[in-house]
Amino acid sequence: MEKTIWPLFAKPIFKRPVDISGLDLSSIKWARNYNNWISESQNILAEPEFKNLAESVYDGLCEYFYGVMQAKDTVEIYFTESWFNKTEKGQMHHRHWHPNSIVSGIVYLEADGTSGGTKFITSQYDTIEYGINNANIYNSRSWTVDPEVGSMVLFPSNVEHMVVEYQGEKPRITLSFNSFVRGNVNTDPLTRLSL
Ligand SMILES: [Fe+2]
Repeated sequence: MEKTIWPLFAKPIFKRPVDISGLDLSSIKWARNYNNWISESQNILAEPEFKNLAESVYDGLCEYFYGVMQAKDTVEIYFTESWFNKTEKGQMHHRHWHPNSIVSGIVYLEADGTSGGTKFITSQYDTIEYGINNANIYNSRSWTVDPEVGSMVLFPSNVEHMVVEYQGEKPRITLSFNSFVRGNVNTDPLTRLSL
C-alpha cells in the first residue's frame, strides 16, 4: 500500500496573479494607521476608477470560494470593505485578523525587494512545542509569504497575520479586502440560512 498523509481541516492560503496594469495610485488620500498608512476610502473596489482591479480581484475571490472551497452557486460572495495600505521603510503592521468577514485578501501593488512579507500565524495553543529539524506545513506555527507585485493572497479571515518590518526604499503598497455572503447560504434542514 501507498503511504498517505492527510493535512486535514486546513486553513488554505491561496496565491495567484492579479491584473494591476494601468493602475494609477497617485490620487489616494492617506491617513495614519497604527504603524503605517491606510487609505481614507475603505470601499476602494466599488470606485469606478478601480473597476478593472475590482474585476480581477473578484475573479481571484471566486476561484478561492467556489473553486478551492467548493461553495455552491446559491450563495454569493461579495466585497464588504476594501482599502489601500502603505508601509514605508522601517514600518510594519501589527498582528491582527479580520472580524465580520469570511475570506480576506491582500493584493501586492508596489514593493521594493522581498522584505515586508505577510506572516500568517496560528492562533492554536500547543501544550508542547518540541524542536524541529525542517519547517514544513505540518509543523510550522507561522508562514511568511513574499510581497510579490502583481500577485494576490487569499485566506480565511480568522487567520492571524502581520506585516514584518519593511526594508525597501520605495513604499510597499497593498490593497486589502473583506468579504461576506448573501443569498441561500445553506438549504439543508436545521442549518438553513438565507441572507
Ligand atoms: Fe490584514
